[in-house]
Amino acid sequence: MCGIVGFVGEKEDALPFIFNGLKRLEYRGYDSAGIALASKSGIAIQKTQGKLAALGELLEALPSGIPCGIGHTRWATHGRPTNENAHPHTDCQGEIATVHNGIIENFQTLREELIAKGHRFQSDTDTEVIPHLLEEYGGAEDLVGAVRQAETRLQGAYAFLAISSRDPERIVAVRRTSPLIIGLGTNANYLGSDFSAFLAATKRAQILENGDMAVVTPHSVVITDKAGSRIDRPVITVDWDIKQAERGGYPHFMLKEIMEQPDVWGDCLLGRIRDNEVVPQEIGLTWDQLAEYQRIQIVAAGTAYHAGLIGKALIERLARIPVNVDVASEFRYASPILDRGTMVMAISQSGETADTLACLRLAREQGVFTYSITNTVGSTVARESDAVAYTLAGPEIAVASTKAYTTQILVLSLLALLLARIKGRARPDLVQGMLQLPFLGHKVLKGIDGITTMAERMAGTHDVFYIGRGLDYALAMEGQLKIKEISYLHAEAYPAGELKHGTLALIKEGVPVVAILTEHDVWEKTVSNILEVKARGAEVWGIVDERFPATLPIDHYIPIPIGDTLLAPVLAAIPLQLLAYYTAVARGEDVDQPRNLAKSVTVE
Ligand code: G6P
Repeated sequence: MCGIVGFVGEKEDALPFIFNGLKRLEYRGYDSAGIALASKSGIAIQKTQGKLAALGELLEALPSGIPCGIGHTRWATHGRPTNENAHPHTDCQGEIATVHNGIIENFQTLREELIAKGHRFQSDTDTEVIPHLLEEYGGAEDLVGAVRQAETRLQGAYAFLAISSRDPERIVAVRRTSPLIIGLGTNANYLGSDFSAFLAATKRAQILENGDMAVVTPHSVVITDKAGSRIDRPVITVDWDIKQAERGGYPHFMLKEIMEQPDVWGDCLLGRIRDNEVVPQEIGLTWDQLAEYQRIQIVAAGTAYHAGLIGKALIERLARIPVNVDVASEFRYASPILDRGTMVMAISQSGETADTLACLRLAREQGVFTYSITNTVGSTVARESDAVAYTLAGPEIAVASTKAYTTQILVLSLLALLLARIKGRARPDLVQGMLQLPFLGHKVLKGIDGITTMAERMAGTHDVFYIGRGLDYALAMEGQLKIKEISYLHAEAYPAGELKHGTLALIKEGVPVVAILTEHDVWEKTVSNILEVKARGAEVWGIVDERFPATLPIDHYIPIPIGDTLLAPVLAAIPLQLLAYYTAVARGEDVDQPRNLAKSVTVE
């Protein structure tokens, strides 16, 4: 996820607008940024790694009074966050500049083809193929025609803007999946990844749909479909304030991040499954590496640790490879026994958690192969691992992790399916099922009406228990952490069958127990445990596979559509996250920045 901004006016200086627009979009990514301005005297560019403030210091080097330009704030996916990889990117002659949000899946093939034709690349990004393709198709002279041709070659999900110094009165914009909105002004028009980019200038906008191309000048916006036929997109008036717009209209980043999960899952899976098989290179591993290790040791902290617990169950059940999962702060001081047959896997959203990093270093010192799953390209964990897979969830701003957790589970699922295939236990049905998850995720989000009622009830209690078996227990662990983190209620997760060995003593009249029920092999056993707590007065709330009988002994329940039990965790995570969110809101807590916590903990 990156932020892109464009401005084309009659006389007005584009630079201040673009820079301010980028500031509004900085939440979408902040590892590097850049601006390009187009005039007859050429394309002027400034770009740098680091946050926008670093770019701010370079703006004096750009000419003033130029009314056409584009800007970008980056969340690295392909290529580390360096000066060279920062956008905008240009063609060989420096006459065309582009900014891009998304992933060009076939960039490797295109890059090789363009290099063979003599194009010189300056970066490691997938984006840079766009300006070179445009150059190849005569884009400096005919930007619109070149974009149309280039579009037929690009695969993936993306949005991009292109400008040319030979035609500096227009911006050509394309949307294929990644968001792009046009702001309609007077004698000037605007572009942005979301409304916040231009809301200070105009509230009138047109939202581009997938497959749309727009040619934007100071006085006109012409939108066409892939075939080149003109289409009208409705002009809407946005009545959000700027803060709301940054959060996509949601009151908190956490809610935005929960709600965008199905789309983010689509981004995470993009290109990783081809011809109904998981592609090993797309999760950072080779066949040899996958075949080499007999054991896996996962290390992680907080929510990432809970994703690791799900990963263990999936890998062991599907591939029959033993997996240990340890909390990083424990593992590092536990004199762990590691050997060359073990792969040490670090899971970390930020890629900077000190304890997780220490485990990785410990493994490397012992000559053990290290693999990491992280959301942050160029993070220390990514740099110090032998191999890495990115979760591609985009920046996660809320302290309580949501979309990073579910995408960690997706990557772990892909890994489990690959390992299963190597062991002769391929499950093409599950590979196929993974592609259905974004669709099912949207379905879950549509059927969650009951959550707010539960949350209001939950907000008035003191102690909450979460129970489940197998994968449902791992989910229970994450559910209780979410509640603790943001609503400050006391919560505990228990394996449903273990409750009777002590904790059952705490169950009394009216105590809420959240039961998670997606595991088909043991559901009747969990039902027995539900009856045990109900017999002691508990109020049972269920997150339940919709195929289970409606007669379950549960007081309120949220049915969820599940294709296969092994794919259920990401779907069942959504109601758990929302329950925590609405409980914290009902209690009036600071959802996005809970007390005593930090998004990334770089100390021991
Ligand atoms: C902090 C955050 C948690 C997060 C944990 C691990 O404690 O508050 O939300 O799960 O760190 O972070 P990581 O970036 O390594 O996944």
